[in-house]
Amino acid sequence: MDVAGQSVAEVHFDPFSADFYADPHAFYPRLRAEAPVYYNETYEFYALSRHADVAAGLKDFATYSSAYGVDLAMVRRGKPVPAKMIISIDPPEHRVMRSLVNKVFTPRAIGALQAMITETIDGFLADALGGGTEFDVVQDFSVYFPVDVITKMLGVPAEYRQQVRLWIDESLHREPGQIEMSKSGMQAMTEIWLMYYELIKQRRAHPRDDMISALIAAEVGRDDGSTSTLDDAEIAGFATLLGGAGAETVTKLIGSAAVTFARHPEQWQQLLDDRGLVPVAIEELLRYDAPVQYNVRRSNTDVTLHGVTIPAGAPVFLLGASANRDPDAWTAPDVFDINRDRTEAQNLAFGYGIHSCLGAALARMEAKIALERLLEVMPRYEVRWDGCQKVSMQNVAGWSHVPVRILT
Ligand code: HEM
Repeated sequence: MDVAGQSVAEVHFDPFSADFYADPHAFYPRLRAEAPVYYNETYEFYALSRHADVAAGLKDFATYSSAYGVDLAMVRRGKPVPAKMIISIDPPEHRVMRSLVNKVFTPRAIGALQAMITETIDGFLADALGGGTEFDVVQDFSVYFPVDVITKMLGVPAEYRQQVRLWIDESLHREPGQIEMSKSGMQAMTEIWLMYYELIKQRRAHPRDDMISALIAAEVGRDDGSTSTLDDAEIAGFATLLGGAGAETVTKLIGSAAVTFARHPEQWQQLLDDRGLVPVAIEELLRYDAPVQYNVRRSNTDVTLHGVTIPAGAPVFLLGASANRDPDAWTAPDVFDINRDRTEAQNLAFGYGIHSCLGAALARMEAKIALERLLEVMPRYEVRWDGCQKVSMQNVAGWSHVPVRILT
């Protein structure tokens, strides 16, 4: 009941509902204001939505473990994830794995890939345009290049590169109300692992200049002080994760760029006038419309926050996308403004702390080149709103279809 005696609906947050997939940001203001430690009785999870709490949660890996998985389906099983992927291990193992792969993804290492990335993006954009004035920014363009780039880096043969994306899409897709991966999603995961196992076998016999071969050759220090090489499951797990992270997120960011700048044409004009603003525009897109809405953790101990005790062993959603719109962290957070003061708070779109995005430099470079190219080919454009569609996926949000018409 509110003070006027009218009944006020209870705060409700269902990250597996059609409403959430349509507009996740519709849920966050009430969560932040009224239920900063939200409990969902149906699915038995907790959710933190305020910037201060999400940032602290992401940093505190001792309390909020990643080892049980980073989505609800995995965490609620209550067992450590058997497939050791970097994203689902805690320190000290995480530190070992991260230092092993960090050097491939530093801004300097990614800088060396600029020519390959540019050529890849240009090729797919030329195919998308085909000399015409209408195309779908996502379906004809941004679904193709991110997965192509990361699978090239890994050493996946050309004929499998787009197939990797289709397999990942299948594994992440959720119908409203569906938490667990579907049968076809599991089948897709099996196919992807089999492909990587075969590739690892080939590279063990005949190494090449690619990441799979580098991972085979790498020596890692184990917890007990010994050193060893990675086994097939560790390499396949890492390759699967990279393919997934690389395929889904930049795709969504570019779709979001087309939509958001159509709604803010004066800021598109600013980019046309000054390409130097493209990097800050990407940061603002990431804050305003994060491709990754949340990551899930498991509480290792009881935690009491804002008067609510989260028991040990509970799934906890850390809602980074909500934190990035928290008015206690940002001035006018619901306003898209590429010129905003970015130092006001930590942008959590790439996560924070030890698991913060390994591919951030790569994602930023891909997004910068793609946006620069879009500025060239569609300086004036309109979105055909009736053709726009969103994905319904586990933890990633964004547009699957953004048809545009280039104006002269
Ligand atoms: C706009 C694009 C991207 C966004 C918004 C994004 C977002 C994120 C977020 C939020 C996390 C933290 C996960 C957690 O705390 O559980 C993360 C981790 C990660 N991302 Fe990204 N990502 C992007 C692109 C990429 C790309 C292109 C790659 C690599 C090819 C990549 C690889 C990874 C990996 C391997 C991790 C796990 C790191 C670890 O656990 O230490 N990401 N990403």
